[in-house]
Amino acid sequence: MAIMIDLRLIPEIKLTPTLREGVKTLIEHSFDNATFRDVSDIETPVFRILGLTGGQDVVAHVAAYERDVTIGGEPNRIAMLGDVAVASDLRRQGIARRAIDLAHRELKHRAIEFCVLFAYDPAIYRKNGYREMTNEIRLLDRDNMWRTLVYRGSMVCALGDRPWPDDFLDLKGIVV
Ligand SMILES: CC(C)(COP(=O)(O)OP(=O)(O)OC[C@H]1O[C@@H](n2cnc3c(N)ncnc32)[C@H](O)[C@@H]1OP(=O)(O)O)[C@@H](O)C(=O)NCCC(=O)NCCS
Repeated sequence: MAIMIDLRLIPEIKLTPTLREGVKTLIEHSFDNATFRDVSDIETPVFRILGLTGGQDVVAHVAAYERDVTIGGEPNRIAMLGDVAVASDLRRQGIARRAIDLAHRELKHRAIEFCVLFAYDPAIYRKNGYREMTNEIRLLDRDNMWRTLVYRGSMVCALGDRPWPDDFLDLKGIVV
């Protein structure tokens, strides 16, 4: 029997300690411990999409961030998605895709034009409308050094009508 998963949009200020614990556990189980760092400890998401079972177990997670950046020197407030994870026994049922769709709906509502993410596996995000970016990106790297590079796995989804400019992106901070 398929388990019913309730997808919920939770503003960060409404994330209870129990849900936060559930998110941490899901993420720790989903990512390789050697590379894992909880970005939400460093930068605060605006909201999260959580997949919850009837018993309120967290089985899916997407964190949505907003950042004031410049694209080709022009200021723009973009969104970034991070820590996309679905419990291993519930994968390949379209839960991540639905969670990302829900995040996009909210971001459009918040008048965000572009959503960026940094993927381990770009294939996962193509059906959500993402394509690989070729922009040069300036970012604050994990070793606290500012770097300018074309980031393999960086992807963007245009949420509105304006196409993504293929210009220099100053991310003005870390990759989430
Ligand atoms: C990545 C992850 C979140 C996908 O969750 P999911 O709910 O299984 O994804 P969906 O069922 O919505 O799949 C969406 C699309 O992504 C692609 N996809 C998903 N898992 C894939 C895999 N393991 N290999 C290749 N493509 C995959 C498929 O195109 C899929 O669409 P389809 O099933 O119609 O072909 C989940 O596998 C996970 O938590 N992995 C561990 C953590 C992780 O790697 N997160 C992503 C970091 S970039």
